[in-house]
Amino acid sequence: MTQSMMHCIAQALTILAGFSGLVESADEALWPLQSFKSSSVQTPFMNVTKMGQTEPGYLFFTPHDVPRETGHPVIYSDDGELVWQGKSGNYSALQPQMLNDEPVIAYWSGYSGEGFGFGAITILNSSYDEIHRVTLDCKKEGFVTVFDPLELDSCIDIHESQLTDNGTILVTAVNVTQADLSAVGGPKNGWVQDALVYEIDLVTNDIVFRWSTHGNSDQVSITNTRAPLEGSGGNKSDPYGYPHLNAVYRYGDSYLVSSRYMCSLFFIDSDGMVKWHLHGRTGGDFQLGLGTSFCYQHDARFVSQSEERVTISLHNNENTGFTGHTSLTTGIVLDVELQGSKQVTLKSRMWDAAEPVFAQSQGSYQSLGNGHSLQNHGATPKIEEYDENGAIVMRARFGYDNSMQTYRTYRYPWVGRPATKPAAMACSNDDGKTVVYVSWNGASDVQAWTVRSGSAVEKTAVRNGFETKIMIEGLDNSDSIVVEAVGGVGDGMASDPVTVGQC
Ligand SMILES: *[C@@H]1O[C@H](CO)[C@@H](O)[C@H](O)[C@H]1NC(C)=O
Ligand SMILES: *[C@@H]1O[C@H](CO)[C@@H](O)[C@H](O)[C@H]1NC(C)=O
Ligand SMILES: *[C@@H]1O[C@H](CO)[C@@H](O)[C@H](O)[C@H]1NC(C)=O
Ligand SMILES: *[C@@H]1O[C@H](CO)[C@@H](O)[C@H](O)[C@H]1NC(C)=O
Ligand SMILES: *[C@@H]1O[C@H](CO)[C@@H](O)[C@H](O)[C@H]1NC(C)=O
Ligand SMILES: *[C@@H]1O[C@H](CO)[C@@H](O)[C@H](O)[C@H]1NC(C)=O
Repeated sequence: MTQSMMHCIAQALTILAGFSGLVESADEALWPLQSFKSSSVQTPFMNVTKMGQTEPGYLFFTPHDVPRETGHPVIYSDDGELVWQGKSGNYSALQPQMLNDEPVIAYWSGYSGEGFGFGAITILNSSYDEIHRVTLDCKKEGFVTVFDPLELDSCIDIHESQLTDNGTILVTAVNVTQADLSAVGGPKNGWVQDALVYEIDLVTNDIVFRWSTHGNSDQVSITNTRAPLEGSGGNKSDPYGYPHLNAVYRYGDSYLVSSRYMCSLFFIDSDGMVKWHLHGRTGGDFQLGLGTSFCYQHDARFVSQSEERVTISLHNNENTGFTGHTSLTTGIVLDVELQGSKQVTLKSRMWDAAEPVFAQSQGSYQSLGNGHSLQNHGATPKIEEYDENGAIVMRARFGYDNSMQTYRTYRYPWVGRPATKPAAMACSNDDGKTVVYVSWNGASDVQAWTVRSGSAVEKTAVRNGFETKIMIEGLDNSDSIVVEAVGGVGDGMASDPVTVGQC
C-alpha cells in the first residue's frame, strides 16, 4: 500500500494547499475523530444521513486512516456511534458471518503491499476472543513474495475471508512466479503475481482446495487482463499483477471467483476446470444485455442459483488506479441464463443519484432483507443503503476521499458480549457536581447505566452512544463509585471502583 499511501498523502496535501487561507496546520485537514474520557479508543466521526427506514443490524468495517497511518476493525450503529473497536493494525476483508450457528467476525491482518498482502485470518466470537487463526504456510507452499527475504509465517492475501458450511474458509493468495509475458508485450522470462484461491480447514489449517490463475493459463489467458504492463514484470521485485482476484464463494462443489483486472467472473469446479466465464465487457461465454457491462468489480456473490439461471450481485467499481476515476460506481444485480440464450439481463442498478461516487478502488455490495442493499465505496469512504425501489435510505461518510478507506462494509445483526468490564471515569467539577463517564467497548445492548457509591444508588441514566455522560450531585472528591450495566446480555456487570477526582 506504500505507493498508494504516498499518492494519497500527496492528494491530502493538495487539498490542504487549496484551503491554505483557512487551514493553519496540516492536522486540521485530517478527518475528525471521536475520543472519549473512559476509553483510549479513537474513531472516525461518522456523518449519517437517513432518508428512510434501514434494515436492522450494525455496520462492520475496517477504516484505514491513510495520513495517520492507522486502521482498526470496527462496529458502528446506524446513528454513527461506535460499538466496538479492535486494536490497530493493517486490516482487510472483515466479514461478520455464522460459524457453527454462532455469529463470528473474520478478518485479514498482516503486511499490506501494493493492492495485495501477506497475512492471516483471525476469527473472533461475540466476546471478541480469537477462536481461530487461519494461516497459509508460505514455505510449505513455496511462496515467493516481493518482500523476500522477509520472513513471513502466513501468506494469505487481503481480499477474502468467506466461511463455508464445512468448517473451512475461502481466501486468496498472491505468489510471485515466472511467466512468459510475450503475449502482452513483455519479456519471455517475465515475473507475475499469480493469484490463487485456497480453501483451508479452520482447525488444522490443512489445504482442502487450491487453484492458481497462472497454473490454469490454458483456461484463463493472461490476455484477458486490462492491467497495463507499464514496464513491470521484468524482475521478481516488480511482478506484473495481471489477475487481481478479489472474491471467492463456494456453491456446492464449485467456486465463484472474481478477477478485478480481467473484469471477469469464473465458475470453477473442484477439479479446477472453468465451467463458465462471464466477462463484464465482452460477455465471455454469455451475451451481455443492455446495461449489464461491468469492470474492475468486487464482492461478487450469487443471490440465487438454479440449473438454468444464476442471479449475481456485485460492486461495479468501474475504475482503478490505472484508469483514473471518472466512471460512475454502482451496485448491480444480473440474471445470467446458463443454458439456451446465455443472455445476461440487468435486474437492478443502485447508486446515489444526489451524490454520485466515482471510486478509485475497493468496495462491496451486500443484498439485505426486504430488497434492500448496502454499498460501500472503498477509497471513497461512504456507505449507502438503498430500498427495494432503488431509493437511497442512508448515506454515511467517515472520511475524506482517498485518505480514509475500507475495503468492505457489511450490515449484520450482532449481540456483543465483551469479556472485559465496563470502563468508567468520575470527574469533579468546580461547581461541586461530578461527571461520570462510562463506556463498554463491544457491548451492543446496554439500556442504561447505574452509578453506585457504596450500597447507595446515586443515579440511573439511559445509555447514550459509545460513552454515556452522567451528572451527579452530592459526591465528594475521593469518594469511590462503580457503574453497572442495566439491560442486555451484560446486565449487572460493573466497572472496577473508580475514585472521584480532578480530570
Ligand atoms: C454531513 O453530510 C451532509 C451531506 O450528506 C452535509 O450536508 C453535512 O454538512 C455533513 N455534516 C458534517 C458535520 O460534516
Ligand atoms: C502494515 O503494512 C505495512 C506495509 O504497508 C508494514 O510496514 C507494517 O509493518 C504492517 N503492520 C503490521 C502491524 O503488520
Ligand atoms: C469466546 O471464546 C472464548 C475463548 O474460547 C470463550 O471463553 C468464551 O466463552 C466465548 N464466548 C462466547 C460468547 O462464546
Ligand atoms: C459440506 O457439508 C455439507 C453438509 O453440511 C455436505 O453435504 C457437503 O458434501 C460438504 N461439502 C464438502 C465439499 O465437503
Ligand atoms: C510459487 O512460486 C514459486 C516460483 O516462484 C513456485 O516454486 C511455487 O511452487 C509456487 N507456489 C504455488 C503454491 O504455486
Ligand atoms: C525491477 O524492475 C523495476 C522496473 O520495473 C526496476 O525499477 C527495479 O530497479 C528492478 N529491481 C531489480 C532488483 O532489478
